[in-house]
Amino acid sequence: MKRWLVRILATIGGIAVASAIVGGLYFAVLVRGGFAARDQPSALEARIASAARSMAVPSRAKALRSPIAATAEVLADGRAHWADHCASCHANNGSGDTQIGRNLYPKVPDMRAAATQSLSDGELYYIIQNGIRLSGMPAWGERAVDDDKDSWALVAFIRHLPELSPDELKELQRLNPRSSDEWREEQEEEEFLRGHEKPAEPKSEGRGERNERRKAHG
Ligand code: HEC
Repeated sequence: MKRWLVRILATIGGIAVASAIVGGLYFAVLVRGGFAARDQPSALEARIASAARSMAVPSRAKALRSPIAATAEVLADGRAHWADHCASCHANNGSGDTQIGRNLYPKVPDMRAAATQSLSDGELYYIIQNGIRLSGMPAWGERAVDDDKDSWALVAFIRHLPELSPDELKELQRLNPRSSDEWREEQEEEEFLRGHEKPAEPKSEGRGERNERRKAHG
Protein backbone atom coordinates (compact mmCIF):
# COMPACT_ATOMS: atom_id res chain seq x y z
CA MET A 1 0.00 0.00 0.00
CA LYS A 2 1.12 3.55 -0.69
CA ARG A 3 2.52 5.31 2.34
CA TRP A 4 0.10 8.27 2.08
CA LEU A 5 -2.85 5.88 1.99
CA VAL A 6 -1.66 4.14 5.15
CA ARG A 7 -1.34 7.53 6.82
CA ILE A 8 -4.89 8.58 5.86
CA LEU A 9 -6.33 5.24 7.02
CA ALA A 10 -4.44 5.49 10.31
CA THR A 11 -5.77 9.03 10.84
CA ILE A 12 -9.36 7.97 10.14
CA GLY A 13 -8.93 4.99 12.49
CA GLY A 14 -7.50 7.27 15.18
CA ILE A 15 -10.41 9.69 14.87
CA ALA A 16 -12.92 6.82 15.08
CA VAL A 17 -11.31 5.41 18.24
CA ALA A 18 -11.12 8.87 19.85
CA SER A 19 -14.80 9.56 19.02
CA ALA A 20 -15.83 6.20 20.48
CA ILE A 21 -13.94 6.97 23.70
CA VAL A 22 -15.42 10.49 23.99
CA GLY A 23 -18.92 9.21 23.17
CA GLY A 24 -18.59 6.38 25.69
CA LEU A 25 -17.37 8.80 28.35
CA TYR A 26 -20.23 11.16 27.58
CA PHE A 27 -22.78 8.44 28.16
CA ALA A 28 -20.99 6.95 31.15
CA VAL A 29 -20.18 10.15 33.00
CA LEU A 30 -22.30 12.98 31.74
CA VAL A 31 -25.76 11.63 31.01
CA ARG A 32 -25.87 8.80 33.49
CA GLY A 33 -28.84 10.54 35.11
CA GLY A 34 -30.89 10.25 31.92
CA PHE A 35 -32.10 13.31 30.03
CA ALA A 36 -34.13 14.88 32.81
CA ALA A 37 -33.59 18.61 33.39
CA ARG A 38 -34.12 18.21 37.12
CA ASP A 39 -30.58 17.32 38.19
CA GLN A 40 -27.63 19.56 38.86
CA PRO A 41 -24.93 19.11 36.17
CA SER A 42 -22.00 17.10 37.52
CA ALA A 43 -18.80 19.03 38.30
CA LEU A 44 -17.13 17.53 35.23
CA GLU A 45 -20.01 18.44 32.93
CA ALA A 46 -20.14 21.99 34.32
CA ARG A 47 -16.40 22.37 33.83
CA ILE A 48 -16.46 21.07 30.25
CA ALA A 49 -19.44 23.31 29.41
CA SER A 50 -17.85 26.43 30.86
CA ALA A 51 -14.51 25.73 29.13
CA ALA A 52 -16.31 25.16 25.81
CA ARG A 53 -18.28 28.35 26.29
CA SER A 54 -15.22 30.38 27.12
CA MET A 55 -13.50 29.06 23.97
CA ALA A 56 -16.59 29.85 21.89
CA VAL A 57 -16.56 33.56 22.80
CA PRO A 58 -14.13 35.18 20.33
CA SER A 59 -11.26 37.01 22.06
CA ARG A 60 -12.23 40.16 20.17
CA ALA A 61 -15.66 40.00 21.86
CA LYS A 62 -14.14 39.29 25.29
CA ALA A 63 -12.02 42.42 25.01
CA LEU A 64 -14.95 44.72 24.12
CA ARG A 65 -15.36 47.68 26.45
CA SER A 66 -18.74 49.24 27.15
CA PRO A 67 -19.25 52.40 25.08
CA ILE A 68 -21.60 53.80 27.75
CA ALA A 69 -21.02 54.80 31.38
CA ALA A 70 -23.16 53.28 34.14
CA THR A 71 -25.13 56.48 34.85
CA ALA A 72 -28.40 56.46 36.83
CA GLU A 73 -30.26 56.74 33.53
CA VAL A 74 -28.44 53.75 31.98
CA LEU A 75 -29.06 51.66 35.12
CA ALA A 76 -32.77 52.58 35.03
CA ASP A 77 -32.88 51.49 31.40
CA GLY A 78 -31.15 48.18 32.25
CA ARG A 79 -33.49 47.69 35.19
CA ALA A 80 -36.60 48.10 33.02
CA HIS A 81 -35.32 45.58 30.47
CA TRP A 82 -34.24 43.19 33.18
CA ALA A 83 -37.66 43.30 34.88
CA ASP A 84 -39.39 42.72 31.56
CA HIS A 85 -37.18 40.18 29.74
CA CYS A 86 -34.80 38.52 32.18
CA ALA A 87 -36.38 38.32 35.64
CA SER A 88 -38.71 35.45 34.65
CA CYS A 89 -35.65 33.16 34.63
CA HIS A 90 -32.97 35.13 36.51
CA ALA A 91 -35.22 36.69 39.26
CA ASN A 92 -35.38 40.42 40.01
CA ASN A 93 -32.35 40.22 42.30
CA GLY A 94 -30.33 38.00 39.91
CA SER A 95 -30.36 34.99 42.26
CA GLY A 96 -31.95 32.73 39.61
CA ASP A 97 -34.45 31.58 42.21
CA THR A 98 -37.53 31.39 39.97
CA GLN A 99 -39.58 28.39 38.94
CA ILE A 100 -38.08 28.43 35.43
CA GLY A 101 -34.54 29.28 36.56
CA ARG A 102 -34.39 26.49 39.12
CA ASN A 103 -35.70 23.85 36.73
CA LEU A 104 -33.69 24.46 33.57
CA TYR A 105 -30.64 22.38 32.73
CA PRO A 106 -28.18 23.88 33.31
CA LYS A 107 -29.91 26.00 35.98
CA VAL A 108 -29.53 29.75 35.83
CA PRO A 109 -26.58 30.85 37.93
CA ASP A 110 -26.70 33.35 40.79
CA MET A 111 -25.47 36.32 38.77
CA ARG A 112 -24.42 38.23 41.90
CA ALA A 113 -21.72 35.60 42.54
CA ALA A 114 -18.09 35.72 41.43
CA ALA A 115 -18.53 33.26 38.53
CA THR A 116 -20.69 35.80 36.66
CA GLN A 117 -19.16 39.01 38.02
CA SER A 118 -15.69 37.85 36.98
CA LEU A 119 -16.73 37.58 33.30
CA SER A 120 -15.52 40.56 31.26
CA ASP A 121 -18.01 43.23 30.12
CA GLY A 122 -17.48 41.99 26.57
CA GLU A 123 -18.26 38.40 27.56
CA LEU A 124 -21.50 39.42 29.30
CA TYR A 125 -22.45 41.51 26.25
CA TYR A 126 -21.67 38.65 23.86
CA ILE A 127 -23.77 36.23 25.92
CA ILE A 128 -26.72 38.64 26.01
CA GLN A 129 -26.49 39.27 22.27
CA ASN A 130 -25.95 35.64 21.19
CA GLY A 131 -27.40 33.48 23.97
CA ILE A 132 -25.87 30.18 25.13
CA ARG A 133 -26.31 27.15 22.94
CA LEU A 134 -27.79 23.98 24.49
CA SER A 135 -29.15 25.97 27.41
CA GLY A 136 -32.27 27.98 28.18
CA MET A 137 -30.44 31.28 27.60
CA PRO A 138 -31.90 32.95 24.46
CA ALA A 139 -30.09 35.38 22.13
CA TRP A 140 -31.46 38.90 22.57
CA GLY A 141 -29.54 41.03 20.12
CA GLU A 142 -28.64 41.29 16.49
CA ARG A 143 -25.62 39.36 15.28
CA ALA A 144 -22.30 41.20 14.95
CA VAL A 145 -23.51 44.45 16.48
CA ASP A 146 -21.11 45.91 19.05
CA ASP A 147 -23.11 48.95 20.08
CA ASP A 148 -26.54 47.73 21.14
CA LYS A 149 -27.23 50.27 23.90
CA ASP A 150 -29.94 48.10 25.50
CA SER A 151 -27.53 45.18 25.92
CA TRP A 152 -24.76 47.43 27.29
CA ALA A 153 -27.31 48.86 29.77
CA LEU A 154 -28.04 45.26 30.81
CA VAL A 155 -24.31 44.63 31.32
CA ALA A 156 -24.17 47.71 33.57
CA PHE A 157 -27.24 46.48 35.44
CA ILE A 158 -25.76 42.97 35.92
CA ARG A 159 -22.65 44.58 37.45
CA HIS A 160 -24.96 46.49 39.78
CA LEU A 161 -26.93 43.38 40.91
CA PRO A 162 -24.80 42.66 44.03
CA GLU A 163 -25.73 46.07 45.48
CA LEU A 164 -29.44 46.41 44.62
CA SER A 165 -31.35 48.55 47.14
CA PRO A 166 -34.80 47.61 48.54
CA ASP A 167 -36.26 50.56 46.58
CA GLU A 168 -34.79 49.23 43.34
CA LEU A 169 -36.28 45.80 44.09
CA LYS A 170 -39.69 47.40 44.56
CA GLU A 171 -39.29 49.24 41.27
CA LEU A 172 -38.36 45.94 39.54
CA GLN A 173 -41.50 44.30 40.93
CA ARG A 174 -43.57 47.20 39.61
CA LEU A 175 -42.02 46.69 36.17
CA ASN A 176 -42.44 42.88 36.00
CA PRO A 177 -44.89 41.75 33.31
CA ARG A 178 -48.43 41.08 34.55
CA SER A 179 -51.32 39.19 33.04
CA SER A 180 -54.54 41.14 32.51
CA ASP A 181 -56.07 39.29 35.46
CA GLU A 182 -53.26 40.46 37.69
CA TRP A 183 -53.80 44.04 36.47
CA ARG A 184 -57.49 43.82 37.25
CA GLU A 185 -56.83 42.41 40.72
CA GLU A 186 -54.37 45.19 41.50
CA GLN A 187 -56.79 47.86 40.32
CA GLU A 188 -59.53 46.35 42.44
CA GLU A 189 -57.30 46.29 45.48
CA GLU A 190 -56.31 49.92 44.94
CA GLU A 191 -59.93 50.96 44.55
CA PHE A 192 -60.85 49.01 47.67
CA LEU A 193 -58.10 50.65 49.69
CA ARG A 194 -59.31 54.05 48.50
CA GLY A 195 -62.72 53.16 49.85
CA HIS A 196 -64.57 52.84 46.54
CA GLU A 197 -67.24 50.20 46.39
CA LYS A 198 -67.21 49.27 42.73
CA PRO A 199 -64.09 47.67 41.23
CA ALA A 200 -62.70 49.80 38.38
CA GLU A 201 -61.87 48.61 34.89
CA PRO A 202 -58.15 47.96 34.38
CA LYS A 203 -56.29 51.01 33.08
CA SER A 204 -55.10 50.36 29.58
CA GLU A 205 -52.42 53.07 29.79
CA GLY A 206 -50.06 51.06 31.98
CA ARG A 207 -50.21 48.01 29.79
CA GLY A 208 -49.64 50.09 26.65
CA GLU A 209 -46.47 51.51 28.11
CA ARG A 210 -45.33 48.04 29.01
CA ASN A 211 -45.87 46.79 25.46
CA GLU A 212 -43.92 49.75 24.13
CA ARG A 213 -41.00 48.72 26.32
CA ARG A 214 -41.27 45.13 25.26
CA LYS A 215 -41.15 46.12 21.60
CA ALA A 216 -38.17 48.36 22.27
CA HIS A 217 -35.86 45.42 22.96
CA GLY A 218 -35.52 43.14 20.00
C1 HEC B 1 -35.76 31.37 29.46
C2 HEC B 1 -34.86 31.64 30.54
C3 HEC B 1 -33.89 32.79 30.42
C4 HEC B 1 -34.17 34.11 30.15
C5 HEC B 1 -35.53 34.74 29.87
C6 HEC B 1 -32.90 34.80 30.22
N1 HEC B 1 -31.90 33.93 30.53
FE1 HEC B 1 -29.94 34.41 30.82
N2 HEC B 1 -29.51 32.47 31.22
C7 HEC B 1 -30.42 31.44 31.22
C8 HEC B 1 -29.73 30.20 31.54
C9 HEC B 1 -30.37 28.84 31.65
C10 HEC B 1 -28.37 30.53 31.74
C11 HEC B 1 -27.25 29.59 32.12
C12 HEC B 1 -26.70 28.90 30.89
C13 HEC B 1 -25.45 28.10 31.20
O1 HEC B 1 -25.04 28.00 32.34
O2 HEC B 1 -24.87 27.58 30.24
C14 HEC B 1 -28.28 31.97 31.51
C15 HEC B 1 -27.09 32.65 31.58
C16 HEC B 1 -26.96 34.02 31.40
C17 HEC B 1 -25.71 34.73 31.50
C18 HEC B 1 -24.35 34.12 31.79
C19 HEC B 1 -24.11 34.11 33.26
C20 HEC B 1 -22.98 33.23 33.71
O3 HEC B 1 -22.42 33.45 34.78
O4 HEC B 1 -22.66 32.28 33.01
C21 HEC B 1 -25.99 36.05 31.28
C22 HEC B 1 -25.01 37.20 31.29
C23 HEC B 1 -27.43 36.15 31.07
N3 HEC B 1 -27.98 34.89 31.13
C24 HEC B 1 -28.10 37.33 30.85
C25 HEC B 1 -29.47 37.40 30.59
C26 HEC B 1 -30.16 38.64 30.30
C27 HEC B 1 -29.53 40.02 30.33
C28 HEC B 1 -31.46 38.32 30.03
C29 HEC B 1 -32.58 39.24 29.61
C30 HEC B 1 -32.34 40.09 28.46
C31 HEC B 1 -31.59 36.87 30.18
N4 HEC B 1 -30.35 36.35 30.51
C32 HEC B 1 -32.77 36.16 30.01
C33 HEC B 1 -31.78 31.53 30.99
C34 HEC B 1 -32.46 32.69 30.67
